[in-house]
Amino acid sequence: MRGPYVFNSLRDQFTARLKAEQLQAEERSMKSQSDLVRSVFQTAEWHLKAAYNIRIRRETVQAFLKYESFTRILDIGCGDGSLSLPLLTAERYLTLLDFSETMLSLVRSRIPNELADHVELLNQNVLSATLRPHSYDLILCVGVIAHVESPNALLEKIISWLKPGGSLILQNTEADHVLTSVARFLERIRSVLRPKIYDRNQLRSSELLGALTRKNFDLQAAFSYGLPLLGMRRIASQETLYRVVRLAYGAYPDARLPSCGNECLYFLKARP
Ligand SMILES: C[S@@+](CC[C@H](N)C(=O)[O-])C[C@H]1O[C@@H](n2cnc3c(N)ncnc32)[C@H](O)[C@@H]1O
Repeated sequence: MRGPYVFNSLRDQFTARLKAEQLQAEERSMKSQSDLVRSVFQTAEWHLKAAYNIRIRRETVQAFLKYESFTRILDIGCGDGSLSLPLLTAERYLTLLDFSETMLSLVRSRIPNELADHVELLNQNVLSATLRPHSYDLILCVGVIAHVESPNALLEKIISWLKPGGSLILQNTEADHVLTSVARFLERIRSVLRPKIYDRNQLRSSELLGALTRKNFDLQAAFSYGLPLLGMRRIASQETLYRVVRLAYGAYPDARLPSCGNECLYFLKARP
């Protein structure tokens, strides 16, 4: 009796799992890319896993802006606000835009009380947001372009919101890089067990920078580095991961191995 019972139970479990996966796949195909991206960033898991990378981004942004003056800042896809909140002073105004309520509630809890009236939080999709044209001295767009439905539409929004002579800090993961290819390959293997929720945009930095140059932007500075491969995050602490990256790639402006990194941060200025 036991043999057929075990077999039937395994078969039922397998059929139930197959059905659940089919349902999930149908659900995914019915949702827009924005809904899927938002669903990923509605959890704080991303933030916890990426703390060392956020620290590298924050330090690079601060190094790029060391000698710059600016008053009005827009942080597109602000996440937990780690990159732009440290830039806030009594002389500056900050708009933080993100379509994840979870991220915005993290930001809200970190705004210093005395500067609360210098901060505006916008819970919107950047592609449908309508902000006052040419009203920001500095726009940050870090960790976002890979996730939006239309990178071109995102660039058009940035251009329309930046003041002439304003600064832009933009991040891209270089599509044409061996580290990106290896990371994508490992992700494909993992997706057999855990299907990917959506495909990120793969953009070449040369094309991105070319498009911005044609739109009257000049590159001021760049810093690139590589991230430890998938799986490393499970075995090493955030502090170790941070140190490994710094050891290999240095820090702006003293970068080591500049052409070996696929995570690229760019500082550009719009011509006045
Ligand atoms: C990878 S995180 C980067 C966060 C932060 N900029 C950083 O580097 O620490 C991407 C963030 O962009 C937001 N985001 C992605 N697509 C967006 C969109 N279309 N509109 C608004 N926010 C978006 C996500 O909710 C998430 O908080």
